[in-house]
Amino acid sequence: MAEILNIENINVYYGQIHALKDVSLKVDEGEIVALIGANGAGKTTTLRTISGLLRSKTGSIKLMGNDISHTEAHKLVSKGVAHVPEGRHVFLQMTVQENLEMGAYTNSANLKEGIADVYERFPRLKHRMNQIAGTLSGGEQQMLAMGRALMSKPKLMMLDEPSMGLAPILVQQIFDIVKELNKAGTTILLVEQNAEMALEIADRAYVLETGKIKLSGTGKELAQSDEIKKAYLGG
Ligand SMILES: Nc1ncnc2c1ncn2[C@@H]1O[C@H](COP(=O)(O)OP(=O)(O)OP(=O)(O)O)[C@@H](O)[C@H]1O
Ligand SMILES: [Mg+2]
Repeated sequence: MAEILNIENINVYYGQIHALKDVSLKVDEGEIVALIGANGAGKTTTLRTISGLLRSKTGSIKLMGNDISHTEAHKLVSKGVAHVPEGRHVFLQMTVQENLEMGAYTNSANLKEGIADVYERFPRLKHRMNQIAGTLSGGEQQMLAMGRALMSKPKLMMLDEPSMGLAPILVQQIFDIVKELNKAGTTILLVEQNAEMALEIADRAYVLETGKIKLSGTGKELAQSDEIKKAYLGG
């Protein structure tokens, strides 16, 4: 399997706070890789560093073999990385359709086709194409954020807690969609606090604890590990 992402020994600081400590991880083409851990473990920091919004003091971040650790954030989209941030951040004043158009700015040649694809995957969005995004429900906003990210036809999609704050039935839907996107060819790096569901769909996973990778393995292995059960799966 070709390597999509390879991170080696990154160290990230917020002033005096040492947020990521020698973090290494990789994501192969076609995988769903989950990054789990408690509040403040460094999950979001990891995604923001991959996206070029934060910088590591050490090590390397390679995307399909090319070092991106100094690449500007806005250039990463055209290199194939889409980041759906924590809290979604759709454009609240714009319609659903306008949000999707914004997502296509590196891929404007196939705008119509891209939007049609997103509506096929998210029929709920199609019915609401002219609705102002700020009036969508939380789950619909998450779908829109994911749909917008898909408009750039990413190689690697990074999702930061897509299930946060959603009712159980919507959580299940979002996880189903993640699985479908992966089946359709998108490689996924999934940050989640919902360890149980994340491990269920992940090929492999890493556990972050206070800025360090504590454990890694297949989703199955980790779901069965006593350490994980105790700390993240409620016994
Ligand atoms: N802008 C910032 N300035 C200072 N410290 C920060 C900043 N952002 C994050 N941190 C600290 O870095 C550590 C890692 O934070 P991060 O947001 O990556 O955690 P997380 O695993 O995503 O947590 P959560 O599950 O709550 O989203 C925390 O201790 C946090 O307080
Ligand atoms: Mg976070």
